[in-house]
Amino acid sequence: MTTPNFTEVYNAIASFTNEKPEDFLLNVCKILKQEVYHYDWVGIYILDPGKNELVLGPFVGKPTPHIHIPVGKGICGQVAESGEAMIVQDVTQVENYISCGLEVQSEIVVPVLKDGKFVAELDIDSHSSAPFTSEDLGFLTKVCDLLTDYF
Ligand code: SME
Repeated sequence: MTTPNFTEVYNAIASFTNEKPEDFLLNVCKILKQEVYHYDWVGIYILDPGKNELVLGPFVGKPTPHIHIPVGKGICGQVAESGEAMIVQDVTQVENYISCGLEVQSEIVVPVLKDGKFVAELDIDSHSSAPFTSEDLGFLTKVCDLLTDYF
């Protein structure tokens, strides 16, 4: 395991913001999974305000059965409700957790806000135990700022 160079990864992502939206969002997921050792599943959930639920958009990693998640349910739904990022270093300690597989040990979810309102979120599962630091959070918050224009 090597320490990720978050600045380099951020610059790479920022350099392809002029791609078509669907390409850009998928490429963000791809580069995050590829470049950061402890990111094993990376996906974007998008809010459907009419149904008050999240819908899975572009993702990389094992297909998940959780395509629709009601706001408030699981870690993803809680972030949609609060508009605040969540880091879960040990998913077995969380009651309101939706499992995507026994290999997942930890998860970070960071909101995408548009004009201060929740529109989508970046969801990352890790097979490592307690891998996330404030650096991950700072980096992913900046990445989510880049995603805002796509919603
Ligand atoms: N674990 C999430 C569900 C989504 S999967 O990680 C892809 C949750 O508890 O909301």
